[in-house]
Amino acid sequence: MKEKIAELLQEHLPFTSDKLMLLIESPPDPKMGDYAFPCFSLAKELKKSPQEIAQDIVSKIKNTSDFENIEAKGPYVNFFVNRMSLARETIISILKKKNKYGSSTNQSGKKILIEFSSPNIAKPFGIGHLRSTIIGNSLSKIASFQGAKVVRLNYLGDWGTQFGKLIVGYERWGNDKKLKSNPISHLLDIYVKVNADPELEQPARDAFRKLEEGNKKYTALWKKFRALSLKSFNSIYNELGVSFDVVSGESLYNKKKESVLKSLKSKNLLKESQGALIVDLENKGLGICLIQKSDGSTIYATRDIAAAIDRHTKYKFDEMWYEVGSEQRLHFKQVFSLLSMLGYPWAKNCVHIDHGLYLDSDGKKFSTRKGKTVYMEDILKETEQIASDEINKREKLSKSELSKRAHAIALAAIYYGDLKNYRASDMLFDIDRFLSFEGDTGPYLLYSYARAASILRKAKFSAKPSPKLEVPSDSEKELINLLASFTEKASEAFEQKAPHLIAHYAYNISQLFNEWYHQEKIIGSSREEHGLYIVASYAQVLKNSLSLLGIPVLERM
Ligand code: ARG
Repeated sequence: MKEKIAELLQEHLPFTSDKLMLLIESPPDPKMGDYAFPCFSLAKELKKSPQEIAQDIVSKIKNTSDFENIEAKGPYVNFFVNRMSLARETIISILKKKNKYGSSTNQSGKKILIEFSSPNIAKPFGIGHLRSTIIGNSLSKIASFQGAKVVRLNYLGDWGTQFGKLIVGYERWGNDKKLKSNPISHLLDIYVKVNADPELEQPARDAFRKLEEGNKKYTALWKKFRALSLKSFNSIYNELGVSFDVVSGESLYNKKKESVLKSLKSKNLLKESQGALIVDLENKGLGICLIQKSDGSTIYATRDIAAAIDRHTKYKFDEMWYEVGSEQRLHFKQVFSLLSMLGYPWAKNCVHIDHGLYLDSDGKKFSTRKGKTVYMEDILKETEQIASDEINKREKLSKSELSKRAHAIALAAIYYGDLKNYRASDMLFDIDRFLSFEGDTGPYLLYSYARAASILRKAKFSAKPSPKLEVPSDSEKELINLLASFTEKASEAFEQKAPHLIAHYAYNISQLFNEWYHQEKIIGSSREEHGLYIVASYAQVLKNSLSLLGIPVLERM
């Protein structure tokens, strides 16, 4: 619609329709039109007051069937879309395109590698990794919806000095049975014990160096830790409904460090400092980047540089996104800066998409509860249990239906509870709030969808190619207008890498829908068919927006 307006305006103004399109606004109140064109910025060039310009435009534009009214209001030209054609076009398009409605080909031909989740082996799947998983998963869907080819990559933290500690500790306190039955908590116990003993520091460093040199026994142990941890992570991903195209890890890049060192050396970037190798990025305001420790072992940044180069060779990405917590901002700035100093022009297409912390109700970082580590499995189980108790209060269901619904509600609660927030902000991780059936929550949206689905089921609705629609009421027009803007919203969410825009959108259409449905008597009225088309369109758009957040819907609730 914005394009149509820009074209109309362009006939009467000495500006390109692209420039005009950028100026078109969606007014906060439908009384001011569905779209508004502010004339302030043209005043200087046209040597007229904005009010005069607005009047001029209105007197020149011929009314087309697309608009029911075009009026000058002060410095604005307000456009009122023809509600009948708006309804017809929007509803037909939604019900025809179904799950594809709102998608676009804006980014087709583009390959985007999205790295997300990236938990650390032998450690509990952290709450910060949950954030990365939820946001990264959503961003992957948002990018695919724009036609981009997306490669979803999980980069495990499976290398580093901590493995020296684990090896040393395991040789002392390891227990194969415990390791098999509960790998993460057993390894965590060992890790804590090693850290408590300063005498193990040196042996741990030696063990890691040996591991880097390919020591057979240590490598076998490390492989075991990795495989068992991955198994436990996979069951979490399964629960969360998240999958990856590639699971890689830091360990792949330990051997590639030589080539990184060589290129850094050849560009004269490496310096020695107390036996360690560093690159001085002080003049860029990025401090010192450690490349190799004094004992010769590699570090995180070196592996990231090698990984980026390898990924570019393998995937020839147009863009690479790293969904990682904001505490690693400096790290990524250093890595990207080093890549560009090494002469890789694609370094400018690497982006760190950061997220803030989950906070507990006391405002502190949510990672331990009463001093105890929080296990992701427990959070998921607890959330499902609360959901299941809640459902049990309302209706009696078979065991399998109950667990299916509790699972979907728990996912919606956690996903939406996160994604409705701007990702870079810290947020309260408040399961009770997330699980509420009222207000701006995942369960509320699932419930709204299921209600729409139930209306359609009861009315035995099935869409026909040319629906019989009536002239929409004001509230219907407002809802349909919002449904019509989904395509734009989806592309905005992509441009800004901001799933919360989709979350807010899903909530907005649901509020309008629920208000409208409360007021209007649809079933049994003379406008029943018309009303059902609106219900069906809303349900489809809500489903599509939730799917961009990674939230599957329930047909019955
Ligand atoms: N495993 C890391 C951590 O938990 C995150 C990895 C982020 N990705 C990267 N390419 N450095 O802190």
